[in-house]
Amino acid sequence: MNIAVFCSANGSNFQAIVDSLKRGKIKAEIALMVCDNPDAFVLQRAEKEGIKSFLVERKNFNTKGEYEAEIIKRLEQEKVELICLAGYMRLVGAVFTQKYRNRILNIHPAILPVFKGTHGIKEALDYGAKVTGVTVHFVDEKMDHGPIVLQEAVEIKADDTEESLAKRIHKIEHKLYPQAIKLFVEGKLKVEGRKVKIG
Ligand code: GRF
Repeated sequence: MNIAVFCSANGSNFQAIVDSLKRGKIKAEIALMVCDNPDAFVLQRAEKEGIKSFLVERKNFNTKGEYEAEIIKRLEQEKVELICLAGYMRLVGAVFTQKYRNRILNIHPAILPVFKGTHGIKEALDYGAKVTGVTVHFVDEKMDHGPIVLQEAVEIKADDTEESLAKRIHKIEHKLYPQAIKLFVEGKLKVEGRKVKIG
């Protein structure tokens, strides 16, 4: 199965997916890494791994629709069947979510539906939560909203800083995302309304 991973910055989740595919336990390959930011470190990671990257900047298009049409054209060329958003800092539009319904996964650094958005780690810490975690979910029209595939809790310690908490969260992300991808690739995820049945 051909996978596209969408990223905007560091790409540690991209790296974790690449590494798990290299171990050969998931019958899939990354056909393309889509990136919207020319300064993103993930571009170097893709090059080092010999994975094709497609740099496509929103500012070069008049509308979001045109921007996304360009990406979809490329995904079709590469025969992509699964899209994994991994630190992609944009909301995907309806054209995307309709065309790839239940074929787009996202990873979020909190236990959805709480602490949505781009500062999930800091907000959980500032709120004084005792537990946060990681969610892998299907993507629908709303931000951080679609059916949940996997979640794992992470305890927030009294002396945690944003950095120390982020470190433990990322460690779980790097394990959970490949697990979710493996389940998808093996056809073990069945979406029924908001619920994802596994097995
Ligand atoms: C991760 O924390 C992910 O949950 C969130 O963005 C971050 C991306 O980190 N969506 P990286 O680029 O994979 O290192």
